[in-house]
Amino acid sequence: MKKIIITIDGYSSCGKSTLAKQLARQLDYVYIDSGAMYRAITFYFIQNQVSWSDPAAVKEALQNIHLEFEYDETNEGQASIYLNGENVEHLIRDMLVAEKVSEVAAVKEVREFAVAQQQQMGEKKGIVMDGRDIGTTVFPKAELKIFMTADTAIRVERRFKELYAKNKSITIQEVKENLELRDYIDSNREISPLRKAADAIILDNSQLSMEEQLQLALQWVEDAMMVQSS
Ligand code: CDP
Ligand code: CDP
Repeated sequence: MKKIIITIDGYSSCGKSTLAKQLARQLDYVYIDSGAMYRAITFYFIQNQVSWSDPAAVKEALQNIHLEFEYDETNEGQASIYLNGENVEHLIRDMLVAEKVSEVAAVKEVREFAVAQQQQMGEKKGIVMDGRDIGTTVFPKAELKIFMTADTAIRVERRFKELYAKNKSITIQEVKENLELRDYIDSNREISPLRKAADAIILDNSQLSMEEQLQLALQWVEDAMMVQSS
């Protein structure tokens, strides 16, 4: 069976990475979390006090950033992101990074840097990548594009549960404001804004269990593979 490219875009915390990991496991494909790349770059910028409003400073800083995904058995059997050789998977998920990542991800030089690497990762196909612009900009010719969404209150609840498990001082209001702000910046930025690709299938999983969303998506994978081989 020929391998395909599957893209999953959508709003924050609606279950994109959950579905992408499910599909990668089921199909024995590579899963790439493109958001982790923007988060790792943001983490580096914060740590090294890089001013992302200054294009020259951004360009120089990007020359010192090396990102890699490597298998990590502590990360649900999926690859984790390494920043200059250090596994930063668990350092990039907190609010400090979440508060700044959408600003950093709107910077032209940052997007060019990340998109070029993402396109290289898909050269051999057999990949599931989730993010905001994967079906529109990174892989406009992907065989299967999914655009995920879910009610805001449900998305806030899902992300709050995750963050609260690690940090009991976090409030639901804080999580809601961050989600809404990121969705707004991501949808309204000039370069590669979050948009549904014309040929993407919408998946609203507000009322779906993880098993139900997987079964739906697997049917779409089967359809996309039939189209490809016909
Ligand atoms: O998991 P969550 O939906 O909270 O976000 P993420 O996928 O980790 O992405 C973090 C941020 O990176 C997003 O809010 C976007 O600002 C940015 N991003 C992007 O601009 N383009 C992508 N392909 C992926 C993420
Ligand atoms: O990648 P994205 O930010 O879109 O979301 P995620 O990290 O995959 O999912 C956010 C949370 O929603 C996780 O804790 C998932 O377990 C949960 N989830 C859920 O409860 N039901 C679904 N159908 C999908 C995800």
